[in-house]
Amino acid sequence: MSDATRSGRPIDISHFSNIDASQDPGQFIAFLEQVEQLGWLEAVREESFARLALAPGQRMVEIGCGPGTAVGLLRQRGIEAVGVDASRNMVEHARRKVPGAEFRHAAAAALPFPDGSQDGYRAERVFEHLHEPAKALSEARRVLRPGGRIALLDLDYELWTVDADNVELTQALKLAMAGTVANPWIGRRFYGLLHDAGFHDVRISVLTHVLTSYEEAQPLLSAALQAGLSSGAVADGVADAWLLEQRERSERGRLCVILPMFLASAVA
Ligand SMILES: C[S@@+](CC[C@H](N)C(=O)[O-])C[C@H]1O[C@@H](n2cnc3c(N)ncnc32)[C@H](O)[C@@H]1O
Repeated sequence: MSDATRSGRPIDISHFSNIDASQDPGQFIAFLEQVEQLGWLEAVREESFARLALAPGQRMVEIGCGPGTAVGLLRQRGIEAVGVDASRNMVEHARRKVPGAEFRHAAAAALPFPDGSQDGYRAERVFEHLHEPAKALSEARRVLRPGGRIALLDLDYELWTVDADNVELTQALKLAMAGTVANPWIGRRFYGLLHDAGFHDVRISVLTHVLTSYEEAQPLLSAALQAGLSSGAVADGVADAWLLEQRERSERGRLCVILPMFLASAVA
């Protein structure tokens, strides 16, 4: 494999369920920081903040906070955001990156907060990696006060698209990638899961982002490629050629990756 992320190697996203058990947790931190730099998440993230409808001084938890960027942004707006992540490495990184903010090491299904203590709950690109999303939502409902709001943001792994010459290979890579995450269909499942957990005013929006440069699309394309290689769905040489084609498309202004991000919000 010739392509690599800036962190050195292509990423196996299946490890986002348990980063600390991977051989190189730093690689996942670098990957998330790289995605932050690309800027295409900003608009969907802002929309998810708006759905929480929080005023300065109100309390919220950011679950699976990763490097803590969203916690920092929310705190700049006067919101008492606390970051929670199941990875100790990620929590340590977030504490260094956002000094003065509170970060806790905990799992989404067992939060260290009293009942009804939170005005808001947000999780971005986290539920796709949870093995027990219903348990996490029941815990979300427990920590939210009545009337508190939840906002969840995830990709549906079957619905993103990329234009490519080889349709069969592209489909095989997408399928392999969907197979690496715990909940590839989480986007469409939010509606039912939120109702089952007792939330009301459940709202689902699909916020679509179109990536047209190789730099923007590379983390996703590399992850798809890695999934294809790890699962044995594609051979090395074929995979390299697929990525090379995408780079060439970008140079010719012909790269087109469409990402439907599912934003779910509801009231406790
Ligand atoms: C793809 S990253 C997204 C990070 C961050 N939300 C962002 O937008 O950059 C997923 C994060 O969820 C965390 N995570 C995975 N399983 C978790 C769980 N059960 N409870 C809490 N955090 C979890 C991972 O450690 C990782 O930091």
